[in-house]
Amino acid sequence: MNDISAIILAAGKGTRMKSELPKVLHKAGGKPMIAHVLEACRSCGVTRPLLVVGCGAEEVQAVCGEQAAYVEQPVQLGTGHAVMTALPALARERGKVLVLCGDTPLLTAAVLRELLNYARETASACTLLSAFLPDPSGYGRVCRDADGRVLGVVEEKDATPQQKALSEVNTGAYCFDIEALRAVIGQLAPANAQGEYYLTDALALLSARGYAVNALAAQDGTCALGVNDLLQLSQAETVLRRRKNEELMLSGVTITDPQNTYIDCEAEVGAGTIIEPGSYIRGKSVVGRHCRIGPDAEICNSVVGDHTRVFRAVLAEARAGEHCSIGPFAYLRPGAILSDEVKIGDFVEVKKTSVGRGSKIPHLSYVGDSFVGERVNIGCGCVTCNYDGHKKELTVIEDGAFIGSNTNLIAPVTVGREAFVAAGSTITQNVPPDALSVARGRQRNVEGWAKTFREKNGKK
Ligand code: UD1
Ligand code: CA
Repeated sequence: MNDISAIILAAGKGTRMKSELPKVLHKAGGKPMIAHVLEACRSCGVTRPLLVVGCGAEEVQAVCGEQAAYVEQPVQLGTGHAVMTALPALARERGKVLVLCGDTPLLTAAVLRELLNYARETASACTLLSAFLPDPSGYGRVCRDADGRVLGVVEEKDATPQQKALSEVNTGAYCFDIEALRAVIGQLAPANAQGEYYLTDALALLSARGYAVNALAAQDGTCALGVNDLLQLSQAETVLRRRKNEELMLSGVTITDPQNTYIDCEAEVGAGTIIEPGSYIRGKSVVGRHCRIGPDAEICNSVVGDHTRVFRAVLAEARAGEHCSIGPFAYLRPGAILSDEVKIGDFVEVKKTSVGRGSKIPHLSYVGDSFVGERVNIGCGCVTCNYDGHKKELTVIEDGAFIGSNTNLIAPVTVGREAFVAAGSTITQNVPPDALSVARGRQRNVEGWAKTFREKNGKK
């Protein structure tokens, strides 16, 4: 399919979003809307579409990078003007050109392929992707003659009441013969309610010149959604979420309450895993097979190995091995790397720390900037004191060490292999392997003191 190029319109400000962020960078399903359109394009054979940028051009280019080529539309005079601006950059292209909008994140590669095939089969100079919507308001309506031939598209703001009653809408995705598009693009005029150059007027111009103009109605109308405001963004989010959950369930993942499970498009989850409600799997996270996630887990750009349990816990840029148990109320921050069979229990925070196989940090501890070996046990309420007010220091706890409850390890410090640290210690010096270290005030008992105190205060 080398005779296909693509133009994606993404120069508009998105005034109706009421937001500083360029419209196409708003995220749905965990990635910017424009990234969804780029991916659909890529999956149907167009590797480097031409992106028309304008408002927030630099930000858009920073996000899309090498995935697209760019042309700038410095003033946004309408979708037709955007295509006018783009065409010279495609002067050498022949064959078909897809024209897509950057604000339609629900378009899929499958539907674009159908559009291309239909355009070829019908030998159309322009094939428009349309959809029948129960509520067509806001979209351009597709006008056909008595025989069903497409006459053109009329924008809502220019439509008569009869035209407004039409339920077939323009999704904003088209497949043109690039030569035919070149032939008419210069004739667009801003003679309409919005004073803009409408790309949609190209259809009537083509039709009038005797070119074949067709519309393919998408079977699944959800792909039509154009996001112009934050309400529509939330509708796009809902559809993407449902699609992702359905895809995972059909691949062997149990989602006990799909309405309350939030999995980004790019996240992966292995078969046999059970996801309970209130769980979020964000970004490029990878969750293995036969895991149990949730209720109330948040896994963000993290990796979770097979058979691991994450229960009411947060993982952010962290990695957990196989057969680990995490939570409830655990917080694995960036750089937390757990080996297999590790337990991270309640109210434990781990940051920039590797934890070796079979080690346990079961309760109420902070472990940061540390290397924890294998089979280590860190008792309740331990703290690696890693920050001296200026810089972060390292703590090393070697294999098999036992850290008693309520211990402070003042970094930089190393606890040697198989050593014991007595509960309540504040460790400021290295502990040799196999040693016992006790670093706490000695206990003194004063016999009868409490009784004397009571009597002095007139109590029995
Ligand atoms: C457009 C269509 C409408 C269709 C709808 C589908 C026109 C005139 N109308 O309306 O028929 O039903 O999409 O969602 O085409 N853009 C530019 N430069 C501009 C203007 C717009 O790059 O000068 C970009 C925008 O950033 C956006 C896309 O084109 O990504 C569509 O523009 P928008 O203003 O959202 O068009 P709609 O009013 O939704
Ligand atoms: Ca739009």
